[in-house]
Amino acid sequence: MKHTWTPNCPTYFLPVPYSVLSLLSLANVAGKDARCTVALKLSYWYTDAYVEFVDNENEWGGLSHGRARDSMRSRRARSLRGRRGNRQPATHSPKKNPLIMNILVTGGAGFIGSHLVGKLLVEGHQVAIIDNLSTGSLENLQSIRDHADLTFVHGDIREGDLVQMFVKECDCIFHLAAAVGVRLIAEDPVHTIETNIGGTEIVLKKANRFGKKIFLASTSEVYGKSEAVPFREEDDFVLGSTAFSRWSYACSKAIDEFLGQAYFEQYGLNVVIGRLFNTIGPRQTGRYGMVVPRFVQWALRDEPIQIYGTGRQTRCFCYVGDVVEGVMALMLTKKAAGKVFNIGSTDEISIEQLADRVIEVTGSQGGKTHVSYQDAYGRSIEDMMRRVPCTDRISETIGWEPKTPLEEILKMVVEYEKGR
Ligand SMILES: NC(=O)c1ccc[n+]([C@@H]2O[C@H](COP(=O)([O-])OP(=O)(O)OC[C@H]3O[C@@H](n4cnc5c(N)ncnc54)[C@H](O)[C@@H]3O)[C@@H](O)[C@H]2O)c1
Repeated sequence: MKHTWTPNCPTYFLPVPYSVLSLLSLANVAGKDARCTVALKLSYWYTDAYVEFVDNENEWGGLSHGRARDSMRSRRARSLRGRRGNRQPATHSPKKNPLIMNILVTGGAGFIGSHLVGKLLVEGHQVAIIDNLSTGSLENLQSIRDHADLTFVHGDIREGDLVQMFVKECDCIFHLAAAVGVRLIAEDPVHTIETNIGGTEIVLKKANRFGKKIFLASTSEVYGKSEAVPFREEDDFVLGSTAFSRWSYACSKAIDEFLGQAYFEQYGLNVVIGRLFNTIGPRQTGRYGMVVPRFVQWALRDEPIQIYGTGRQTRCFCYVGDVVEGVMALMLTKKAAGKVFNIGSTDEISIEQLADRVIEVTGSQGGKTHVSYQDAYGRSIEDMMRRVPCTDRISETIGWEPKTPLEEILKMVVEYEKGR
């Protein structure tokens, strides 16, 4: 059975598909017909979106991927034409490339996920997104929402049946869904741990069950307080005490890495792990503690840019488009299987200097101010002074290097924030 919900409804309808899924789980007990009826009725009652249920388990079960994809595409095109007169046609030319894949992106409505999905669609792939919209949004998918090769599911990666349905039919998986952001992690550590460990466990288990190649998004946070910059993939982690909830994010992602590598070692599952360093660009939200969008928003309002701590801490900021290219290229090479890769820029800049650059780009009259971590987060936060990747491994494996200078990225973020 295939469950698709395309993102053509306003965001205020969004909590509803949760109830659809919950009732669907209940209806599981009553059998297939009940499941379809419950889901269809609820979706039509509450949302402008439609839920298309097709009992196609048998149809897909015996088909090759190519035929399954064709079948999925024609079915979706039919339903889009039939129900939504204002839909645009697919924006790409018909697929002839045998490398075209059917791809699952978890967290595809998030900042990095939405850029990845956009690029995959441009390359002609069929993409299914599972996202619970906790930190992501449909606004991020605005420019591709009517794409005929995009399937969006408002769901949670901790829903095993839902994940299985999509993993089974895909060729590969980009697993990006996670609880992210210093503020969110500090305020809701239980959610962070449960999502990042429990969710990844389910996605990996399903990937292994159906033998699907998977990219896991990890983070530079796993290096913790290490001062051995530049960080190399085989370096030790130096994490803080469990008394500080911020380390729960690093630990949860480290467990994901262990699990991914264990699946590779034990079962030969093709797992590629990317340790992403600070990634920035349009669509990143400042709501959960990301520095660049918050700086730009303050600057555009001519308010003082709030620098947490001394401002002497440094970071390396990489353009999301460059990161996405690296991630996609890693998935295309056999050499990456079972390995961890740092993905990030090596251009170091202090947070104080970043604030100055933002002021230059925006012409802000607001100036800067310093705020303690205690005042900013309501508790003390352990921060690391430097976070610089060694990118030799990714560069040697796929020849990847970041291309976009910080100045250019800041201009893009400013334009995006102005247009909101
Ligand atoms: N942005 C960065 O600088 C950075 C750095 C290191 C690692 N990463 C990693 O990259 C990935 C994407 O990060 P991002 O910056 O795009 O963050 P994001 O918050 O924009 O994206 C995460 C997405 O996952 C979704 N999500 C969260 N919990 C979910 C769940 N249980 N089920 C389904 N969907 C769920 C969110 O709604 C969101 O759309 C994450 O795994 C993150 O850990 C990001």
